[in-house]
Amino acid sequence: MTFDYRSVELLKDALRSLEEGFRHLPDLSERIDPEEVRSALLATAERLRDNFPYHHPLYIGQMLKPPHPVARLAYALAMWINPNNHALDGGRASSAMEKEAVAQIARMFGWETHLGHLCSGGTMANFEALWISRELRPGKSVAASTQAHYTHSRLAAVLGMPFTSIDADARGRMDLAALERALVTGDVGTVVVTLGTTAAGAMDPLPEVLDLRKRYDFRIHVDAAYGGYFTLASNLDAKTRRAFDAIAQVDSIVVDPHKHGLQPYGCGCVLFRDPDVGRFYRHDSPYTYFSSGDLHLGEISLECSRPGASAAALWATLRVFPLERRGAFAADLDACREAAMALHDALQTDTRFVPLFPPELDIVLWAVRASTAREASALAQRVFEAAAKRDLHLALATIPRAMAEPAAAVRDWDAADLLCLRACVMKPEHSEWMPEILNRLQAAADDVCGVRSGT
Ligand SMILES: Cc1ncc(COP(=O)(O)O)c(C=O)c1O
Repeated sequence: MTFDYRSVELLKDALRSLEEGFRHLPDLSERIDPEEVRSALLATAERLRDNFPYHHPLYIGQMLKPPHPVARLAYALAMWINPNNHALDGGRASSAMEKEAVAQIARMFGWETHLGHLCSGGTMANFEALWISRELRPGKSVAASTQAHYTHSRLAAVLGMPFTSIDADARGRMDLAALERALVTGDVGTVVVTLGTTAAGAMDPLPEVLDLRKRYDFRIHVDAAYGGYFTLASNLDAKTRRAFDAIAQVDSIVVDPHKHGLQPYGCGCVLFRDPDVGRFYRHDSPYTYFSSGDLHLGEISLECSRPGASAAALWATLRVFPLERRGAFAADLDACREAAMALHDALQTDTRFVPLFPPELDIVLWAVRASTAREASALAQRVFEAAAKRDLHLALATIPRAMAEPAAAVRDWDAADLLCLRACVMKPEHSEWMPEILNRLQAAADDVCGVRSGT
């Protein structure tokens, strides 16, 4: 069995409890034709089979992590009333849950006061942070590294802000000398510091960027959409720890509960250190904000309608997994990192593969050894396909020569970049599944490169 069925029974109990709250209302007759719904559901299930097995530990491809059952169930439960967290008029309880959950996330980063809310995901969350930066630093540019998520340059264009691309170093981290060269011009208003880049899980040097802020005037926005929860982990290397320990000093932070926070998609979070930036959101709504004089979340967010179910799911998850160092959730993050380290170590002993560098969080990047870059890229593509045939699902990433060259996987550089294999080892089960993952990976490499010559 690959899905748990017991959880569906738990949902029934919770649904009965929810119904109690509305018992005083006249009964409603059920308006479904069970046969029609059954047939539509079965057809849906059949269509959904055409997917990679994202929920299974043999899937280590893209940044996908199954929601925890408590999140899935709380989300489904909320669907029976479908609250809208735009206004307290549409989502009274779930707005309160959102405020509590977001405050817990802010506290995880060391902020007792903040302004923040949930939104549809990392893109929207970064959009709001850059928009506030534009209002506070009109005419100035957004600077982000070449390894930052592509959304930043695109969002800057949408917002009409100039964009300054900063080189990354060989580990995929923002290059400080290149950043300073951009800061000297006086044109940069905001520096995006990525804590956990999408391709390599690299950590930009936040403490050093904070030092630069003593000499230049700019805002710091941290994009920790993927990496943010790792601030709770206890097995980070010293440099990574230092970056997370400095996070409370930045101006805004993005973290995605729908990446490492066990939530279904549609759950990003943006936080501002200064609650006063709420003034930029000020607007009147002729339709809402009537039911209470308390803060309506629509008054401090750009999106209007938003799923209260996301807030209910996150709130319920945080009851089971409080955001504590050395708690159960933190232990799961430690397990992901351990699994990533184990994969990296095993790759080092296989002469056909060359890991680019040790993982800082839980993303591993490696090349296939070959004479030329083109050959190595073609082999990576073939290993990716051979692994998929063995139900091991990896990802691929195009890595610039400057990041791949130090690993010396390739002798002749006949291309500007290298296609590398990539694994997001994001499930705590990956630790115990690593031997099986390695067996399948080695078998895929046998198919493509021939049996390894020794270790
Ligand atoms: C660092 C980073 N920022 C932003 C995003 C975009 O987030 P979303 O896909 O939730 O819009 C991602 C997505 O992977 C990311 O890794």
